[in-house]
Amino acid sequence: MTSRISRALKARSWPILRAALAKGGVDAFVHHPDYHYVPDYYGRSAHKHHDIREEPIFGELASRVISDGRTLLYYDRLYTIYQAVSYVVRRYASTDVEMLNLAEVGVYKGGTSYFISSLLARLKCSRAALHGFDTFEGHAAIDIATENFQEPFHKAGMFSETAFESVKAYLEQFPYARLYQGRFQETCDQVRGRPFHFVHLDVDLYEVTRAGLEFFDEHLVTGGIIVVDDYGFYTCPGVKRAVDEFIEPRPHYLPLHLLTGQCVLTKA
Ligand SMILES: C[S@@+](CC[C@H](N)C(=O)[O-])C[C@H]1O[C@@H](n2cnc3c(N)ncnc32)[C@H](O)[C@@H]1O
Repeated sequence: MTSRISRALKARSWPILRAALAKGGVDAFVHHPDYHYVPDYYGRSAHKHHDIREEPIFGELASRVISDGRTLLYYDRLYTIYQAVSYVVRRYASTDVEMLNLAEVGVYKGGTSYFISSLLARLKCSRAALHGFDTFEGHAAIDIATENFQEPFHKAGMFSETAFESVKAYLEQFPYARLYQGRFQETCDQVRGRPFHFVHLDVDLYEVTRAGLEFFDEHLVTGGIIVVDDYGFYTCPGVKRAVDEFIEPRPHYLPLHLLTGQCVLTKA
């Protein structure tokens, strides 16, 4: 019955009804299961795109970490990471590269690190290491208010609902996943000198985003990719500032600002 009504509305009176509601300040959308609505700068054909959740490897691995409640990322942002990691594996793993080094800075509960690790396993990439960095105690006070930047939306201790031991146990089945506990600025020395191929930088704050970009600039191979999360989000103004300052004197980086809220930096 409901579907008959909805079919009739769509076919005939729906545009009229919608326009009338819009005049009264109400936006109405035909209900599709698994949809939510986005700003109007998305093209009107966005609904014609194939459903990425149906892609065999991606859909299964992303659904797993989302349902585990271990990541703040959803399918859209995980899909960017999926494509970038698949690319670096395709490009470098079959060459004479001794070890593929990937990193996540801002591991939090470990979901995205698990996603990357399980993707490496699926792609049968045996010569890889995933280096995961976090305080595992949330934002450090020292990163919130610095002489360079005052964070307006973030506080010390945000994202502290996690624990090093719990994330370690979650990633236990992946022997190539290594965790470093503490501020990235103080733990990054443990991987200094390694060539890096992919980095997911997801720390929300100016100071550590800047530190991460500068560190990995020195370590990223040509063709390597840094995915910076929360670029352009009004809640993370420091991330945009850090990325913009970083790329300005470095024209050899191709920056792609995605509408997922990620900035993908490829080193040419
Ligand atoms: C938005 S969360 C990361 C979300 C995670 N990538 C996911 O997939 O759900 C941001 C993380 O950055 C971490 N962080 C903030 N400042 C840091 C620093 N200086 N060094 C290391 N980690 C830091 C926080 O502890 C927090 O876990």
